[in-house]
Amino acid sequence: MKLHPLVKNVLFTEEQIKERTIEVAKEIKSFYEQNDKEDQSLLVIGLLKGCIPFYQTFCMNFDFLIDMDFMVVSSYLGGTKSSGEPKINLDVNMSVKDRNILIVEDIVESGLTLEFVQNYLLNKGAKSVKILTMLDKPTERKVDIKPDWTCFSIPKHFVIGYGLDYQEKLRNLPYVAVCDTDKLADWKW
Ligand code: IMP
Ligand code: MG
Repeated sequence: MKLHPLVKNVLFTEEQIKERTIEVAKEIKSFYEQNDKEDQSLLVIGLLKGCIPFYQTFCMNFDFLIDMDFMVVSSYLGGTKSSGEPKINLDVNMSVKDRNILIVEDIVESGLTLEFVQNYLLNKGAKSVKILTMLDKPTERKVDIKPDWTCFSIPKHFVIGYGLDYQEKLRNLPYVAVCDTDKLADWKW
């Protein structure tokens, strides 16, 4: 496979992501089978846009009764501010009241986005709110939040592909790769 020139090295191939996601999907299934015997359905909320490839891989390998919904939440961390209230650009469409909810995220860094979304959904009356993330950078946490399920933990790298973008591009690379940040300074699309 020809790699994009901004790729330094591939961390996880499509096959590796799928294999690990199948494993995690089994764990999540048995958790919810045990956890709430009265309610064997789940509202799976993807955080757009980064979640899309992983959300698809997860849901297609998750043998459970689910409703699908999405949110767009912007965090200000990409800018110069180190903190600030994340903002909801697209709210969840379905009712979350008394629902068990699983948030699906591409990557957790500071944890600010997830802390905000988790509290928001609990305040709207969700019964439970758990978190599944494809990637975690645990060393970069600014708030005390821990995903309930993580496919892969990684060190402090800027990663691209499989939903993760650089300037909104490269989300469609069929792998997760470390970005060659030395090339970014004078990169032209
Ligand atoms: P945080 O946990 O609130 O800091 O925000 C995590 C969000 O930042 C993710 O949903 C991504 O959109 C973005 N993000 C964090 N690390 C990376 C990365 O290495 N590549 C691309 N996007 C990232
Ligand atoms: Mg994201």
